[in-house]
Amino acid sequence: SRLRSSSGCRTIKITCWLIFFLCFRSRRDVQTCTSWKAPIIWEGMFDPDLYDQMHKKEGTSVALTVFAVGRFEYLETFLNSSEKHFMLGLPVSYYVFTDMPEKVPEIKLGHERSLKVIKVERHSRWQDVSMMRMKTILDAIESDIRHHCTHVFCFDVDQVFSGRFGSEALGDSVALLHAYYYRIPEKLFTYDRNPKSKSYMETGDFYYHAAVFGGSWKSVKALTEACYRNIMEDKRNNVEALWHDESHLNKYFWLHKPSRVLSPEYCWDTNIGYRSDIRVTRLLWAPKHYDALRTP
Ligand SMILES: *[C@@H]1O[C@H](CO)[C@@H](O)[C@H](O)[C@H]1NC(C)=O
Repeated sequence: SRLRSSSGCRTIKITCWLIFFLCFRSRRDVQTCTSWKAPIIWEGMFDPDLYDQMHKKEGTSVALTVFAVGRFEYLETFLNSSEKHFMLGLPVSYYVFTDMPEKVPEIKLGHERSLKVIKVERHSRWQDVSMMRMKTILDAIESDIRHHCTHVFCFDVDQVFSGRFGSEALGDSVALLHAYYYRIPEKLFTYDRNPKSKSYMETGDFYYHAAVFGGSWKSVKALTEACYRNIMEDKRNNVEALWHDESHLNKYFWLHKPSRVLSPEYCWDTNIGYRSDIRVTRLLWAPKHYDALRTP
């Protein structure tokens, strides 16, 4: 087997087994561990098969939530690519939230994969759409997801999977490093600096990207509940967080540290250009459909 390929390798592998299957030292060019000892997942740190076997044994099943509210040009590509790369080998339930259920395309789904379409109201301002996401996910977890899935991952729709996004990404509470901020000084992070907002932060750990977050259903329930409560309190006080739900998400992860952090491999923008530390790209920002946006 892989473990016996060479004696040197075997020792390393066995050491890794003891530390949650992860080789923290296999990547010396990047930070692989947070100050509170949560792993930051990079290519080369894990054996995908070990993670898959462990999660199959544990009976892990994953809900993927995605919103297509007035943004239909992205959904089919997102779902098609997800069928090729997202949590293959584990049961996956898609929850597609949309204002137009009739426009959700037929997707050919793999074994043990299913898709539910849930109708939601369309808010006129996109800022409200993105903030109401928290409430919608919370309701779905309480009424449905908690009975069927152990974990939940929440995605923006304007993205395309391009490589394995597998069970190594699962954890109790999972946050993603923002591709534009992972290598810049903290003082440049776009935290909300308005003390009137519940998302106000003076300092933080990282700048997390709201395009991907997840965890056990219990953790994601707690996260969405807290963010929704804070968003509503801001509304009552007539303030709006600088980056909407992302500001509230950053505040939440500052107060409740994620147990696992995903490197920007898990949501990369090719416009950034070549970076030697990005060895694989697993999910890419979709090219903006400017033509579609320009049509009246
Ligand atoms: C999605 O996949 C189906 C069949 O696998 C294909 O017919 C369709 O064109 C794909 N759609 C997109 C937007 O790539």
